[in-house]
Amino acid sequence: MTDVDRAPIEDWATDFDHTHPDYAARAPEVWDELRDRCPVAHSDRQGGMWLPTRHADVAAIAHDTRRYSSEGVIVSPFKPVGMAPQGYAPPITSDPPFHAEARRLLLPAFSPKEISKLEPAARASCRELLDTALADGADVVDAARQYAQHIPVRVIAEMLGLPREDGDRFRVWIHRIIEAPGARRDIAYEDTLFYYLGQMVEDHRSHPRDDLIGFLIGAEMDGKPLATEHIVGTIGLLLIAGIDTTWSAIGASLWHLAQRPDDRRRLVEDPAVLPFAVEEMLRFYAPVTMARIVADDEVELGGQTLGHRDWVLLPFPSANRDPEAFDRADEFVIDRERNRHVAFGLGIHRCLGSNLARLELTVAIDEWMRRIPDFELADPDAVLWSTGQVRGPRQLPIRLLHPEAL
Ligand code: HEM
Repeated sequence: MTDVDRAPIEDWATDFDHTHPDYAARAPEVWDELRDRCPVAHSDRQGGMWLPTRHADVAAIAHDTRRYSSEGVIVSPFKPVGMAPQGYAPPITSDPPFHAEARRLLLPAFSPKEISKLEPAARASCRELLDTALADGADVVDAARQYAQHIPVRVIAEMLGLPREDGDRFRVWIHRIIEAPGARRDIAYEDTLFYYLGQMVEDHRSHPRDDLIGFLIGAEMDGKPLATEHIVGTIGLLLIAGIDTTWSAIGASLWHLAQRPDDRRRLVEDPAVLPFAVEEMLRFYAPVTMARIVADDEVELGGQTLGHRDWVLLPFPSANRDPEAFDRADEFVIDRERNRHVAFGLGIHRCLGSNLARLELTVAIDEWMRRIPDFELADPDAVLWSTGQVRGPRQLPIRLLHPEAL
């Protein structure tokens, strides 16, 4: 399943690897163990990196853009250099002062009002996927492959103005960039996301369209049009951030519900609990861990000394399970009222697509539960979790209970 051979992990406190299949399968246990035993862990893998697991440390780093740069946000053996403050995928890879303007440009497209317009299409898409999955009377459905993975692709492709049929290609690029960074070195430039997006931008320039790519082509910063690298970097970011994350959150939510008849029943009998359930899914199964590069000469953190240009992982999912920050942190509480989770990050880089992510997650769970209210894991051992900084099920066979009633 992995792209490269992996030595087994001997001790998570000194030898962790977030791209290892063992981490993918049991990351929450690893965070719990490290939070107690070694709250800022170090590993030599991936060229060397730090892993803080406490909420307080994760929050301190996210808010400190002076000492921790976003020039690199995906840990890989190739550490970006000399690209700050713009970075290769603005605004996520941008530092102040460039960041604010690059982010501001995008805000109108992701406002609650604009995003709410997408709801009917998102619902129709979920229903169509369920129709297809259930068409031949199947009683086992792969909720990751036949459902979750397609929902965000359709929405973001439409917003950006990219062909929806290219969904499979997007997922190949996402796998290479997020799940197995640096694993392949033999890829032709014509087969990269950045080449593809460059072609798409050229096509939009010659055939102007009213979509997000068209908008970015016409946008200006400091009175000048955006550089092509800026446009391509931003579109690449939206495509990756928009697909992998929500796909993971939808899959993890269905994985949870497949094992919890009490929570399924509650959603069916009390639909008003859905918004609370969505927030708790985001807290408990937060999919996104980001990274930073240390910008100061030395930084003290949790008794450790981090050096200049060291990689630091920022595991928001671990912060969300810290008992210092949440009551009953290790329990999934479907109607949790006070839920200040950090699944969408903290500080200036807080997720720009959170309205869209919430819409997609809500609609995906709601439509699934209306159609398939009762279900279980068909084979718990067949569930496969992604490796890397975005965590969610990539294979999720689910058996429908009472299919005759569907
Ligand atoms: C459940 C789904 C999602 C989760 C958990 C999530 C999580 C995050 C997190 C943790 C960050 C902070 C990054 C950092 O601190 O370096 C972030 C940033 C971002 N996200 Fe999301 N995201 C999700 C969905 C989306 C979607 C659907 C989009 C848009 C298509 C999106 C677009 C962005 C962008 C553009 C940024 C960068 C913002 C900035 O740097 O100012 N995300 N996201």
